[in-house]
Parts: sequence; structure tokens; C-alpha cells
Amino acid sequence: MTTNLQSIIAQMTLEEKAALCTGASPWTTTPVERLGIPEMIVSDGPHGVRRVPDVNAMAVKSLPATCFPTASCLASTWDVNLIHKMGQALAEECIALNVDVLLGPGANMKRSPLGGRNFEYFSEDPYLAGEMAASIIHGIQSKGVGTSLKHYAANNQEFQRFSISAEVDERTLREIYLPAFEKAVKQAKPWTVMCSYNKVNGTFASEHYHLLTEVLKNEWGFDGLIVSDWGAVRDRVAALKGGLDLEMPGPQERRVRAVVEAVRSGKLDEAVLDESVRRILNIVFKAKETPKNGTFDVNAHHELAYKIAAEGMVLLKNNGVLPLKGQQHIAVIGRAAENAHFQGGGSSHINPTKVAIPFKELQTRAGTAELTYAEGYPRDDSFRQDLIDQAVGLAQAADVAVLYIALPTFKESEGYDRTDLNLTEQQVALIKAVSKVQPKTIVVLNNGAPVAMSEWIDDVAAVLEAFMMGQAGGAAIADILFGKVNPSGKLAETFPLKLSDTPAYINWPGGAGEVRYGEGLYIGYRYYDAKEMPVLFPFGHGLSYTTFTYSNPKVSATRFKDVDGLTVTVDVTNTGKLAGKEIVQVYVHDQKSGLNRPLKELKGFTKVELQPGETKSVSISLDFRAFAYYHPEYKQWITEDGEFDILIAASAADIRHTLTVTLESTLDLPCILDKESTIREWMADPRGRAVFGPFYAQIEAQSRKMFGGESERYGNEGAIGMDIMEMMNDMPLVSVLMFQQGTLTMPAEEMVDGLLMQVHEKTGAPAD
Ligand code: BGC
Repeated sequence: MTTNLQSIIAQMTLEEKAALCTGASPWTTTPVERLGIPEMIVSDGPHGVRRVPDVNAMAVKSLPATCFPTASCLASTWDVNLIHKMGQALAEECIALNVDVLLGPGANMKRSPLGGRNFEYFSEDPYLAGEMAASIIHGIQSKGVGTSLKHYAANNQEFQRFSISAEVDERTLREIYLPAFEKAVKQAKPWTVMCSYNKVNGTFASEHYHLLTEVLKNEWGFDGLIVSDWGAVRDRVAALKGGLDLEMPGPQERRVRAVVEAVRSGKLDEAVLDESVRRILNIVFKAKETPKNGTFDVNAHHELAYKIAAEGMVLLKNNGVLPLKGQQHIAVIGRAAENAHFQGGGSSHINPTKVAIPFKELQTRAGTAELTYAEGYPRDDSFRQDLIDQAVGLAQAADVAVLYIALPTFKESEGYDRTDLNLTEQQVALIKAVSKVQPKTIVVLNNGAPVAMSEWIDDVAAVLEAFMMGQAGGAAIADILFGKVNPSGKLAETFPLKLSDTPAYINWPGGAGEVRYGEGLYIGYRYYDAKEMPVLFPFGHGLSYTTFTYSNPKVSATRFKDVDGLTVTVDVTNTGKLAGKEIVQVYVHDQKSGLNRPLKELKGFTKVELQPGETKSVSISLDFRAFAYYHPEYKQWITEDGEFDILIAASAADIRHTLTVTLESTLDLPCILDKESTIREWMADPRGRAVFGPFYAQIEAQSRKMFGGESERYGNEGAIGMDIMEMMNDMPLVSVLMFQQGTLTMPAEEMVDGLLMQVHEKTGAPAD
């Protein structure tokens, strides 16, 4: 293949190469007929195929396809096998609808619950998001259809999404915003990766040499093509130089000319263009190996969408009212019961093959019970007391009230962020009014991201988070309410009590061209853990109609080498009366680390199905990365010797067992001491300690003398009322020596240079 591609490239004119790097239409690449280079058709994505019948149209009604639940719901299944199956079904639809590459999945982090596109993203946790992204990509590509992992990188808000610069430090990028991409790229090898619109630290993602070329292509070994988000390229030549291969959408005649001129004038090395051409051709030809035709099984895919919805919905609260049994009169309230709200607005909007209407689905399962319906709230944001009064009347007369509450599109969609966490004023008033007259009030929510519930949560009997549940979700709700399905989803993101509690609150959404990721590593539960802050529902939370106990926790070794990793096992028993599924989570806590680390981080999970009374032993493997963190000075993931706690948990706030293990790092890290290193850093580094250690006591004695203190560490605070060494330890060695200039035989700088030379002689690294 490679030689073949080289020979094709050799036959291409400069104009043909430049044209290949820009789309021919909104959804197709540029074919070169004389050389047998076909066009490639791409379509949105991510939770269904949005294939427009005419590829020259940007956004017309697309061909019917299965609308699966959106990513919030998918991640809440915590079921990688199911998501893999969804991927395969998506691929079958792509094949039937003549699509070569599906534009998804999205693997960005949920930095703030206000992000308009959060419904399209998996989680606030990079490990969970990475697992989900990798499995859906595997599923789709296993059938010969490509994917586009998006939006790389730091696309976490809609406000000024085409221009804003995400100001985020390297460690936070590596530990929070990139790992889901990294895992998906390394494990599942997506054919394409889509860069985001925004800038990252001042440079457009579409031109970002560090992110596109150094990290994605060189470090992670990505061998597919990088495509721009639609309209993300400002400077075509700079983007090529950065590593962006394909610009979309097309046609863009001027762009093509710009590339040709840049090569002719010597501004762009033709080899750079050739490399992008090679990457594009590689994927275009790969895509053509999968013949596109036929139909897909509409009913089977609808069933799969149902199954995923049923597994992903999260029972947040239940005082025992659910599952419903024996009720004779059910008041069904809320327009979402009749108008299923099952997907979000924007580029991911699917034209569903059919839709399960929640009210009807309830009706077909209700047996002899009478169902009454009231709209409850209007489509728009007007306040209609009459609708509330009508609903209250029905609720009062019924045995139970089920409220279907959907967060309206004007409050949540691609293209704009949410401004608050609230339901509409009318929806809140409705829930309060109904729950006042009907103690058995059940709230079913359709939304893509957390909503505030403090105003009413204590007054209702149960809450089911049904998310943007896909076209079959209405049936899944009914089966959960009636107990045909035992809920087993758990939250993939924290539900906060209020907006001002959220991690990015004081740095959101930015302005003057930039948004500062001031909370750093601490998003989601990492933040609430650090602040010891109560939340409405923690990450990983979800109820079942049965109960589970965890016992017999074990680790494969209590002392282990980082490269060997560990296996954690625990027995899980279904102690209730119904079959059910439990999601077991493993978090890792580093007891002591060189740099601050979150209190705990998710590093493994599994979902297990258990019959009543049944016990199964589950195993979760933890690898090097489960214990490592990214060190910005070493510029690599490092482990440190020491103790780690392994937390076996049912949610981030429900730790069932803690085991302590000892890690031995196998890393031989380079010495990073330099001219500005502090004495504490010199003493912490083994090689630094070997060289400088003998002088430490001298420096301490000298300092204490100079500042009028005793050599005693504590007890005497000296002439200036402080423990001088507490300050000195965090001063650069050179500054400490400056104070002692009079007693030194050579200038402080020279002394430090000398010590550095000795240290680096030991490691072979240069002194600078
Ligand atoms: C979105 C992408 C999408 C593309 C094509 C963009 O506006 O950000 O997610 O794939 O349009 O519709």
C-alpha cells in the first residue's frame, strides 16, 4: 500500500495535492479521477448517522437513521461491550447510507455542567471517557467504517467556541483533557481525528504543531488523518505546517490556491504537503475497501437503542415508590410524555427511524390502570398557571403522578452554553405544586447535563435521570418504572447542589479572548473531593431495585513494580430479591506525592450481572498509568515509590473497601536540578542529595548563626522571630549561598554550576 501511495503521490500535480487537502463539498473529499482517487463521504455523528441526501447541502433533513442515546447516557451505562455493539450498529447504518467516516465520538471533558455540548460528551473523568470512546471506535471500525475522534483539544464550552483560547497548563492537559483522546488513539486507532475550533494557549487547535504533530502524531503514533472541525481553519498554510491534513467543509478554491502559492514561493515545504496527502490517501483508499450498499435492520437497531437507554438511565432517588405496582390511576404530567425529548440540537441531530412515545409506552404496560395526561408546561418559556392547575387536579385524583420533565432546547444545545443549572421556572413550579398534593410524585428527567434539584428533591418520591435517551428511550422509561428493567446506570458526572459550587465557576466562560482553566486538575469529583464539598449526587451514583454487598477484597500483590501493575478482585453479592447489575469502581489514592494530586482518581471499573443471592468475583486490572502522574518538568508520566490506597467503591462517595499497596518505581528519571532549584529540591533528588547533602548541615548552622538563631531546629526562633530554615528550604540554592557570600571561597553561581556539573556527570545529562 505504502509504495502504491508513493507512486500515486508522485503522479499528482501540485494543484491536485492541494485540492485533496480541502473538501470538495460539505461532506466529501476531493476525488482525482484520472488517478483513480475516489471521494470519501463523511457524516455526523456521534450517536446516529446524519446523512444528508445531497452532499452539497450543509444542513437539510437527513435520511432516517437510528437515534441512539447521547454520550451522557452512553457513559452512564459503564458498559463497554454494549457501546461496542452500538458502534457496530452505527457502522451498519453508515454502510447502508453510503458513509465512509462517521464524525464521532466526542471525547472532551465536562469541565463545567454549563457546557452546551456536554450531552455529546461522555464524562468529567478522563478514564471513563477514554474507555467509552475507545470501545465505540472499535465497534464502528470493526466493520470497516471510519470514525473521527473529536474535538481535539480543550473544546469545553460553546461561548466564543470559534475563537476563544483555552488557557490550560501542560500537566492539566495531559492528565485531564488529553487522556481520553490518548487512550482512544492508542487502543482503537481512529481513522481520523477532528481538531477543535478553539485556540489552546493562544494557538488555534487547527494550527497547533505541539498538539497535532508532536503529541498526537509523533508521541501517540496516530497514523490516520487530522480533519478540521467545520470551518476551524483560519490560515490554511499554517494549519498544514501544524499538522492539519484535511480542511472541511469544501469547496474552498482560495484555500487550494493559497497552498499552491505557498509551495511555489517556498513558504511551505512540499514534503509537508505530501505527508498530508499520504495520510488522506491512506484513509480514502481504506474507506473504499468497504462496499457501501444495502439496508440496515431498523427494528434490531431500535431494540439496541432501547437496551442502551435502559442500561444508561440512572435512578437518582427512590423512597420505595418504584417500581410501580398495583396503582389504579396514574397521572402522567409533562409535555415530554407526549413529545419525547431524546436528543440534542445541532450537528448531531438525527432524523429517527421511529420514536417510542413515553406516554404510549406507559399505557401499553399499565394493564387495567387508568392513565390521565396533562401537558404541565408549555413549549416556550412562558409561565402558564392554568397548565399547573390542571396537572395538580389530575395528580390529586390519582394514586401516583409521573412527571416527564425535559430541559428545553432553548436552554441546552450545541452552539450556546447554559446560563444556569435550572429547569424552567414553570417546570420547578409544576413539580412543587404536584408534589404538594401527591406524595407519590416521580420525576423523570430528559436532559443532557445536570440540573439543580435542591428546591424540590426532598418533596418528591423518586427521580429517574433518563438523559437524552435516544429514539427508544420512552420504552426504557416505562420498563424501569414498572420494574421490567432493574435500573443499573450510574452517573458519569457529579450533580452539584448549585452552580456556584462547580469547579470552573469563577473562570467561566472567560472573556477578552481567553478562558483560564484556573481549577487545573480539579474538575468534577476531583474538585468536590478536594474542597470536601457536599454534592447533590456524586459521580458514580445510581440506585437499583436490589442491593449489593462487596466482600473479600484482594490485590494480586501488596508490593509491586509500577510496570507490572496490579489486579484488584472483590466478591459482589446480590442481597436483594431481584436480578440486577452493579458497577464496581476502583479509585486510586496516592498517599504522598512530589506534586499535588487529586485525592482519588478512577482507574478501573466493571459491570456485573447478578441473580438474587448470587455472588461473583470481579477483577479489575491497574496498569502503570493508574499510579502515574504527568510531571511538567520531566515532561513525562512518572511514578514515585510509596504507598497507594486502592479504593473499591460503589460510587465516588461510597467506598466499600480500602487496600494499601506499596509501589516500587522502575523509572530512572533524568536529573532536573538546575540553577533555580531550591535546597529542598536538591535534598529530595537522590543525586542532588549525594552531591549537596554534605553541605546542608553547614548551611543550616551558618544561616542560624547569621540570623541570630540557635542551631536547634525548633524552640528558638532567632533574632528575627522566625525559623529561618523553613524559609531557606524553599529558596534556590544560589540565593541561599548569596547570603553566605562572605564565607564562600568562590562566587555563589560558580559553586552551583560546580555542583550541577557533578550531579549531571552522574546522569550524563547536560548542566543546562
Ligand atoms: C461541529 C462538529 C461537526 C461538524 C460537521 C461542527 O460545527 O462542531 O462536531 O462534526 O460541525 O457538522
